[in-house]
Amino acid sequence: MSYMALYRTWRPQRFSEVVGQEKTVRALQNALQQGRISHAYLFSGPRGTGKTSIAKIVARAVNCAHPDQGEPCNKCPACVDILQGNFMDVIEIDAASNRGIDEIRDLREKVRMLPAQGKKKVYIIDEVHMLTTEAFNALLKTLEEPPDSVIFILATTELQKIPATILSRCQSYHFRRLTAEEIVERLKKVALSNHMTVSAEALELIARRANGGLRDALSALDQVYSYKGSEIDKNAVLDVLGLVDDIYLSRLMEAVFSRNVGMVIEMLGQALKEGKEVQQIAREAVLYLRDLLVYSLLGAEAEFAVVTDSARPYLDKLRNKTEPAQIIKALNLLMSGADRLRFSEGNRFQLEMAFLELLALPGAKQPVETRTTQKATRTESPRPAKKAPSAAAEEKAKVRRTAGGDDKSVAQDWTRLLALVKEKKIPTHALLAQGKLLGYKDQVVTIGFKKAYKFHKEKLEEEANAGILEESAKEVWGRSTAVKLVYLEDDAVQDPLVKKALDVFGEDIVEIKE
Ligand SMILES: Nc1ncnc2c1ncn2[C@@H]1O[C@H](COP(=O)(O)OP(=O)(O)OP(=O)(O)O)[C@@H](O)[C@H]1O
Ligand SMILES: [Mg+2]
Ligand SMILES: [Zn+2]
Repeated sequence: MSYMALYRTWRPQRFSEVVGQEKTVRALQNALQQGRISHAYLFSGPRGTGKTSIAKIVARAVNCAHPDQGEPCNKCPACVDILQGNFMDVIEIDAASNRGIDEIRDLREKVRMLPAQGKKKVYIIDEVHMLTTEAFNALLKTLEEPPDSVIFILATTELQKIPATILSRCQSYHFRRLTAEEIVERLKKVALSNHMTVSAEALELIARRANGGLRDALSALDQVYSYKGSEIDKNAVLDVLGLVDDIYLSRLMEAVFSRNVGMVIEMLGQALKEGKEVQQIAREAVLYLRDLLVYSLLGAEAEFAVVTDSARPYLDKLRNKTEPAQIIKALNLLMSGADRLRFSEGNRFQLEMAFLELLALPGAKQPVETRTTQKATRTESPRPAKKAPSAAAEEKAKVRRTAGGDDKSVAQDWTRLLALVKEKKIPTHALLAQGKLLGYKDQVVTIGFKKAYKFHKEKLEEEANAGILEESAKEVWGRSTAVKLVYLEDDAVQDPLVKKALDVFGEDIVEIKE
């Protein structure tokens, strides 16, 4: 079975399935019901908010054999052909791909011909702002005297780039960003029907980061799912999407505003140790300050970019401590700091500089707080740094090295295997990434999975994935290589190879990262 991205599986097929965009949906559905459909529409709005989806619903509704209250039936031959992209009279033109010159020229010739198959010819022109002037003019000619049987639906993310001459000939609908709540609701539904368990915090985080676009939200969920499996919590989302925890950011900014130099440096070091990138930390802190500012100004009405419910108490505290003017200054400073980091390699000291500059800001409501130093240091970090290998484990690793084992080459083989699999199929790579190469012996490669990754192991054993894995393993270790997947706990320990790996590395090292 080939894998179909969630956002494609979940394209709304009828008006009733569209999330938000109520006014647009109502107006179009009424017009369709009453047979008052116009010749040209312009759909504008941010990416992934439903423009193409609704255009296709309209295309079906006008050609459907049994429309019901303006909705297409999605079952008659016309609907089915359109759904499958086999309908001659629904023509999609992507202006972004070739700027549309040939297609618009072609369109001018063909537009006068009656529909070949259906009742109406529907031209859906996506990213219409990308058309060349020449193509725009050609389109305009057609829009001036549109034949009866033709409907144009133009879609764009950049309304301001559409010439007034075109605008004045279209009925225009603006698509709004969806709210975080609307996105969460949709994600819940998708998760449920795909047997995923996604925590409320994880859903909220994905929704906030999607910035009003449902496609991006669904893609994010898809991505987290393919790397982490069906149990998804906030940390999984942070990890896969490369985000910085908002509670961490709260504490970091609290340290900044209380001018706690030691704490700022310690916290930055901690995030770097966890593998965050300097640019990422700076960028996320900018977004956090943006949220703080909006919250200071708007209170309960604020819509947040990064802050989720669990970080709200921290945000409240910070709001009481800071003045908007001070936040604006901090935001400006940090933005230029983040900018500098963006164009450099970005090292730890530059990152520290970017934050320490903020400490020099005047205007804090409260004087420097020293108490927080101790308090904050004692507070458990929400995302503790990964445990360093224990001394015993180090000892064991040493034993292995001296015993002639070569863990460097094991690591290299594993990286190579992952890369080869990734080249062939990303979802397979996502499954494999949760495993651990235990070793290669007697032409058998053994890969271990924690019980918690049962889903991944079993999926990998399915024919399509197993094929890719084996093919890649042969490229790494030679043609007669076989692959064996085992569990790391209990029964797996019976496997001599696993046992040896456990002996050599110590359990906490063989363990797969959670
Ligand atoms: N309003 C919505 N209701 C339900 N699903 C939506 C909505 N908007 C977007 N989606 C989801 O996102 C996917 C992409 O949506 P669509 O292609 O309609 O966006 P678009 O506005 O045309 O975006 P772009 O400007 O990038 O072309 C859909 O397949 C669907 O899964
Ligand atoms: Mg589109
Ligand atoms: Zn139909």
